[in-house]
Amino acid sequence: MSSYKAVHKTLLSWYEREGRHSLPWRLTDDIYHVYLSEIMLQQTQVNRVRDEYYPLFLEKFPTIKHLADADLNEVLSLWSGLGYYRRARNLYLSAKLSKDGLPTSLKELKSLPGVGDYTASAVCSFALHQSVPVVDTNISRVLKRHFGLLGVKDKIIWKYAEKFLNIEQPRAHNLALMDLGSMICTLKSAECEICPLEKNCQGKEEPTLYTQTKKKEYIKMELYFGVLVQENKIALKFSDDNMYKDMLTLPKVDPLEENFLGSFKHAYTKYRLDVNIYKIEEIDGEIVWIDLEEFDSAPISSLTKKAKKFFE
Ligand code: ADE
Repeated sequence: MSSYKAVHKTLLSWYEREGRHSLPWRLTDDIYHVYLSEIMLQQTQVNRVRDEYYPLFLEKFPTIKHLADADLNEVLSLWSGLGYYRRARNLYLSAKLSKDGLPTSLKELKSLPGVGDYTASAVCSFALHQSVPVVDTNISRVLKRHFGLLGVKDKIIWKYAEKFLNIEQPRAHNLALMDLGSMICTLKSAECEICPLEKNCQGKEEPTLYTQTKKKEYIKMELYFGVLVQENKIALKFSDDNMYKDMLTLPKVDPLEENFLGSFKHAYTKYRLDVNIYKIEEIDGEIVWIDLEEFDSAPISSLTKKAKKFFE
């Protein structure tokens, strides 16, 4: 009998009462839907995925075959605004590699582009109900505090997650830990008084000890883009910048003295950008003319969309 029987029971009854059961990807066992949600949820807030991107994406590509048969531009257009566009490209590549269905083992899932330890185990646990541990940043924090793990490598945390796994109800157990980390044992505060794991928690005296991380370093950059509109069409180019690969952006220009239209700030991953927009008369290289009516549905990054106010 597991030595964690009592604590498992307390955790699961908390989850039954308080857990986020109505999240749409928790109401399905469809492996493609779960997989899609996990890719979208990497680095994006739950509400934005739930309310905007996940339902729209599934409406357009209800099965993995629909996605595999799509054009990359259609996929990137639906991803537009979510950022981290490499996720969309990897998702699309994975669909092409798995037309008849995604694989169902950790090992095969991890061989797909963009699928690491977390995503593979989340799919195995949440869609397939396999008895595998799951560790994301929320679960990691809960486990570190609960077991008093200071300065340990990820590999050790996965070992603890495996040891602590409730093999009778692995899916609910993993989701419960995830919700505990996002609702109670959070980065900013640990509300130990209402935590179901408080009794045996090693970290409750000093929860912040487990979350001290290096200060985030941002990269500041000044960018210059040109706007050329003709006959209600805007001139765009496929970005040569890795962070916006395959996306359309305004053409880059050298800093100009004249024809300045305005500037705005934009935050993207680790970048803090000052974006300057100029009116231009000509552009070198290959141009893609996008009808201003179609601007919102083209594979265009949020940065470029923000610039729209300067040429509308
Ligand atoms: N439920 C299942 N996976 C999730 C995730 N990554 N974030 C929030 N809720 C989830």
